[in-house]
Amino acid sequence: MALTTELGQQTQLTEVAGILLQTSTVGNWSQIQNFEAKPDDLLICTYPKSGTTWIQEIVDMIEQNGDVEKCQRALIQHRHPFIEWARPPQPSARNAKDCMVSYYHFQRMNQKLPDPGTWDDYFETFINGKVAWGSWFDHVRGWWEMKDRYQILFLFYEDIKKDPKHEIQKVMQFMGKNLDETVLDKIVQETSFEKMKENPMTNRSTIPKSILDQSISPFMRKGTVGDWKNHFTVAQNEMFDEIYRKKMEGTSINFCMEL
Ligand code: A3P
Repeated sequence: MALTTELGQQTQLTEVAGILLQTSTVGNWSQIQNFEAKPDDLLICTYPKSGTTWIQEIVDMIEQNGDVEKCQRALIQHRHPFIEWARPPQPSARNAKDCMVSYYHFQRMNQKLPDPGTWDDYFETFINGKVAWGSWFDHVRGWWEMKDRYQILFLFYEDIKKDPKHEIQKVMQFMGKNLDETVLDKIVQETSFEKMKENPMTNRSTIPKSILDQSISPFMRKGTVGDWKNHFTVAQNEMFDEIYRKKMEGTSINFCMEL
């Protein structure tokens, strides 16, 4: 694993409770462990690269009743601070293959994460869960198994892509809000990939190049379903499906196979 870049920046990952974390996050571990949610808190619990920023913007747009100007008040990372660096849970999952592709390109451009190496190297790293914030399988399976025990709204990136209005309506109901059709349509429009890619409050363009080098790969990269087909070899796909079947058995989340 790459420990430092040429610029001497720390890219080391450190294992905490069996999960690799960015070393800069480890110091805040007690903040994560000791976090106590208030009854009206809303927690967005996503695996990296599953559309965290998208759902954050959707939630804020609903909270602000579709007021675009209010959603421009601050950068997305300040409107929705990460617990590890700073409200019931709302996990959002994305099919593991596209997630892997997105994470690969994110690691290429994120100067604070280890160099992902070649695609073939990264394939191994990802399936073994040796990436920051741990294994996709453990994360998605863990939240899936919790979903009926707590007040949890489980969303899928692919569903939001297919029918954003329907999924946004689900989030709205979950948040106890009642917005009319025109406001909902506006939220759909304002949270489209194209809009969010152009919006400095959501596209991470204010983060210095020494952290996120968007000339290597933009943060708002493609925003599509199925980009894995441009990356996976036939052999990798077969191997992945086999691993997926074993690791996700019994969860009925089989979107990987359907894409
Ligand atoms: P790609 O790299 O496949 O383009 P996160 O916010 O969890 O880091 O996730 C980033 C991924 O979500 C990126 O995927 C990004 O393009 C995609 N994304 C962000 N906003 C989106 C939107 N409004 N619609 C669709 N995809 C979006």
